[in-house]
Amino acid sequence: MKKKIAFVGARGLVGQTLLAYFQQDLELFSNFSWSFFSHDSKALTEILSSFNLEFNQNSFFCLSSDSEKLWEADIILTTQGSDFTNRYWPKAKEIQWNGIWLDAASALRLHPDSCLVLPPLNGDYLKFSLSEGKKLFIGANCTVSLLLIALKPLLIPANLIHWLSSMTYQAVSGAGAQGMQELLEEGPQHFPRPIKHNIIPWIDAPSCKEEGLTKEEEKSFEEANKILWPTQQETLLIDSLCVRVPVLRCHSQAITLCLKEDISVHDLEKKLKENNPWVKVIPNTQEETYKNLTPLDYQNTDFLGIGRIRKAINISKSSNNKNFPVYHLFTIGDQLRWGAARPLYEFLKILVPL
Ligand code: HSE
Repeated sequence: MKKKIAFVGARGLVGQTLLAYFQQDLELFSNFSWSFFSHDSKALTEILSSFNLEFNQNSFFCLSSDSEKLWEADIILTTQGSDFTNRYWPKAKEIQWNGIWLDAASALRLHPDSCLVLPPLNGDYLKFSLSEGKKLFIGANCTVSLLLIALKPLLIPANLIHWLSSMTYQAVSGAGAQGMQELLEEGPQHFPRPIKHNIIPWIDAPSCKEEGLTKEEEKSFEEANKILWPTQQETLLIDSLCVRVPVLRCHSQAITLCLKEDISVHDLEKKLKENNPWVKVIPNTQEETYKNLTPLDYQNTDFLGIGRIRKAINISKSSNNKNFPVYHLFTIGDQLRWGAARPLYEFLKILVPL
């Protein structure tokens, strides 16, 4: 029998990005029996009809009045956001619902029972966790997932990075459709300050962990380490400073990283490509950077660009850094794809044979 999935939040940007993956993978889609939940069933039906997917017309439900139907599913897939999660996850626990909860929102990412979902990095761990009966699977923060996919060959199994610092340039679509509407002048101001012709060096609420840190910045350390070392035997030292920029789609990150060994830039470029089909390494020249290393080059694609790779020569000269050379690089990826929807789509592929 096909497993039943209740999909909550298909109307949003991440939800629609997932639907686009299903449209390209009808075989995966047809392996499940789908029901869709939204606060606005009419708008949901309109959006779904724009995708070339076959639905049972009786499978659309109003989240407010039909929410009891959620518990008939084997899997709840939600891209609705943390408000939904905070409201319905406790309810699921209360009624001892025994299905798999697959979520894009941040609410449960650091829950002790949750596994963060990034199959190219932790696919084996996710399979093991399923076999152990784990039920809570959560997509990580967009910049975290993009960072880890980009640097995968330096991380697993190599463990080559001593520390890294990420300065982000985050697109307005990271804040949802209203962020895009503001930039396109199709809607009211959505950000705390105007985003057109501007940048805003603060994303999300202040963190409770440390004065001056934002929640977005807190996530980089917590979530990256939860993905890399779920049993916490190691720590990757990461700090970040997150900035909203007037770009529609694709988050970029300027990364400074300290490696545990001195390798040439040529070898670093080679290493970054190893077993990492999602990465395009762009030679650090003026011509190549102009041609291939801007957000417009990666929007609506699953590829991540990595360029501007060079040794931080002055910093690396310091006697403190002699054994730990420091490098710069710049990476770009579509945050709605590998940053949000694609890890969930890959996780559903893991669920099919089970
Ligand atoms: N927290 C992210 C942002 C969402 O605000 O950009 C992921 O794109």
